[in-house]
Amino acid sequence: MRRLSAIAPPKGKLGVLTVGMGAVATTFMAGVDLVRRKKAKPVGSLTQLGTIRLGKRTDGRSPSIQDFVPLEKLENIVFGGWDIFPDTAYEAAKNAAVLGPEHLAEVKKFLSKIRPMKAAFDQNYVKKLSGTHVKKGRTKYDLALQIRDDIQKFQKKNRVSRTVVIWCGSTEIFLKPHAVYATPETFVAAMKGNHAAIAPSMLYAWAAITSGVPFANGAPNLTVDVPALTGLARQHGVPICGKDFKTGQTLMKTILAPGFKARLLGMNGWFSTNILGNRDGEVLDDPESFKTKEESKLGVLEYILQPKLYPDLYGKIHHKVRINYYPPRGDNKEGWDNIDIFGWLGYPMQIKVDFLCRDSILAAPIVLDLVLFLDLAKRAGMRGIQEWLSFYFKKNTLRWMMGEGLITHLGQEYYD
Ligand SMILES: NC(=O)c1ccc[n+]([C@@H]2O[C@H](COP(=O)([O-])OP(=O)(O)OC[C@H]3O[C@@H](n4cnc5c(N)ncnc54)[C@H](O)[C@@H]3O)[C@@H](O)[C@H]2O)c1
Repeated sequence: MRRLSAIAPPKGKLGVLTVGMGAVATTFMAGVDLVRRKKAKPVGSLTQLGTIRLGKRTDGRSPSIQDFVPLEKLENIVFGGWDIFPDTAYEAAKNAAVLGPEHLAEVKKFLSKIRPMKAAFDQNYVKKLSGTHVKKGRTKYDLALQIRDDIQKFQKKNRVSRTVVIWCGSTEIFLKPHAVYATPETFVAAMKGNHAAIAPSMLYAWAAITSGVPFANGAPNLTVDVPALTGLARQHGVPICGKDFKTGQTLMKTILAPGFKARLLGMNGWFSTNILGNRDGEVLDDPESFKTKEESKLGVLEYILQPKLYPDLYGKIHHKVRINYYPPRGDNKEGWDNIDIFGWLGYPMQIKVDFLCRDSILAAPIVLDLVLFLDLAKRAGMRGIQEWLSFYFKKNTLRWMMGEGLITHLGQEYYD
């Protein structure tokens, strides 16, 4: 394992560029502004409200994460981004209808100044949208170079010392692994040849990484998850992470499933259905975008429950996920889960969950945490995939970064 270099302090300003300025991105931007003006609390954010235990639990040392690691302050963040519509972040937030009129009025001045740059977009990858505010270029490579230029111009104009790019754009169609993703060279050749395997989200990821800028993916798209881009990230010393913010129903799955597994309770099936009416729901109404989401959602249970290791408990799970576009609900979706579990001697039981949630309210703090932790990771000299940012944040990485003892949960030290 590489030794960690000293963490550079967060000097200057941090630029945050969101690809897509829809419900999640604008709720995130508005929230940061409200929090830094002390008009609201950053509920749900580990970087803003979390603490970290150091040493034995009897030592009573649990500083806040903000005091423990040198994170950028909210006051020093500058926002920008891209979208296929020219609406300002205020107009987009109003359309998304996540925030109430009082909050919208509070952030109107701030959000009205954030105008999206023209997007690299291709309707073949998001069938339900057609945008007007899009870049023109002969090849996909030309578009990627334009994005790189956008990043540079944003950095110069706003005099930021560091930047992070995060995909908050629509879910693209499902893409399978392809030979063109093998190396940075095959990837560039594919961009130049307008190869169908190169989706717009990949152009942003390539542009960010080759600009030395960390990149996070909040959607379930393949995007940065290909050897060419993970390899490039290591070469350029850039931390990356993804994918698909775990909110709503997937949040419930990642909370409940580890509990069943810890108690060695078996599972026969998990049926999930949702109704939602925002633009994300409309995009996911297209079977090809839904397939991307479905694969990501189905993968969660398999990853947590490890059916290969526990064939008696999880070898035959019927896992179904349905998403229904239902406009009256807007961003306030409803997710129903029926979980068929079984216990001692195989006796069956059922659990029903009805989660009336607010997707973007759950996603916004994750965007903030990912952005701040990626910036920290970059300053600490970490590169490539940041496994510690997956699912639940693994706080041992923060202890390791700061040279503190790691927590083993052995418990022996209290009784010897
Ligand atoms: N809301 C959640 O809790 C949640 C959870 C997990 C994942 N996600 C994913 O996050 C993404 C954003 O969700 P949302 O609710 O904000 O959706 P949204 O539809 O409100 O916003 C997405 C924005 O991306 C823009 N866009 C699409 N393609 C683009 C491109 N190539 N370049 C630039 N902009 C582009 C769209 O015009 C739109 O404004 C979606 O992919 C969604 O599946 C959201």
